[in-house]
Amino acid sequence: MKLVHTISEVREAIAEACAAGKTIGLVPTMGALHEGHITLVRNARQDNGFVGVSIFVNPTQFAPTEDLAKYPRTLEEDAEKCREAGVDVVFAPNAQEMYPEGFDCWVDVGGVTPMLEGQFRPTHFRGVATVCLKLFNVFQPDLAYFGRKDYQQLCVIRKMVRDLNLPLEIVPVDIVRESDGLAMSSRNRYLSAEEHKAALCLSQSLNDAKAAFESGERSAMTIQHVVKHRLDAEPLAAIDYAVVVDAETLLPLETIARPAVVLLAVRIGATRLIDNLILTP
Ligand code: PAF
Repeated sequence: MKLVHTISEVREAIAEACAAGKTIGLVPTMGALHEGHITLVRNARQDNGFVGVSIFVNPTQFAPTEDLAKYPRTLEEDAEKCREAGVDVVFAPNAQEMYPEGFDCWVDVGGVTPMLEGQFRPTHFRGVATVCLKLFNVFQPDLAYFGRKDYQQLCVIRKMVRDLNLPLEIVPVDIVRESDGLAMSSRNRYLSAEEHKAALCLSQSLNDAKAAFESGERSAMTIQHVVKHRLDAEPLAAIDYAVVVDAETLLPLETIARPAVVLLAVRIGATRLIDNLILTP
């Protein structure tokens, strides 16, 4: 496995892989890799002749008030995990490599961005879409792998690929959970033992939603109440949003007659966690 820091080194490796007739799979990450990321890598490894992982804590998707400086950076451990998982190239650029002096060009995806995360983090998806388009241009992957945990992000990336006719396929990969149900996230490491226990209310509320749905409930509002009831019972939890919306448009819906998604963003102490559940009638 090669660990590289420049775009030209990636391009060299990609040119070699293409000359050898390999398909290119890309897993974009911000590092602090956990089993969720490694599952993305395993999927990419299965599907492709060449697998690239990018590790870049992208400053443009953080607001000035957010945790950019505090975001965990564990490149050595991450590179070791990638090597064990059979990655070909890890690309770990610095900010100057990705955003050189004078950089001023942005991707603004419409439709699925203004609501939910977009309301709490107004410039977030502009940063995500921009860096992903740049990474797609650097790696020119056939397939790029994104976790379903960041559900709205997945919608944004898919829309960008569709609307801009990007020549790659986005492969969504299911949420990976700890044995107690907590969705894996690089931010889980901020949780104290007490907060970790409290954070289980997210997956528990989704289990409640699933049970209600499976017993025939089709009112989005009723399922939303079920979810909020569980979250409200946890004293350490502060809800940013807990909604049931259309799985494609992310707009509110009354009756679940087509795929819907329960989307949660909940603060546990100073840590903001997201989770979700797709409901398919
Ligand atoms: O999901 C993430 O880790 C990031 O948002 C991504 C897609 C790597 C872009 O920086």
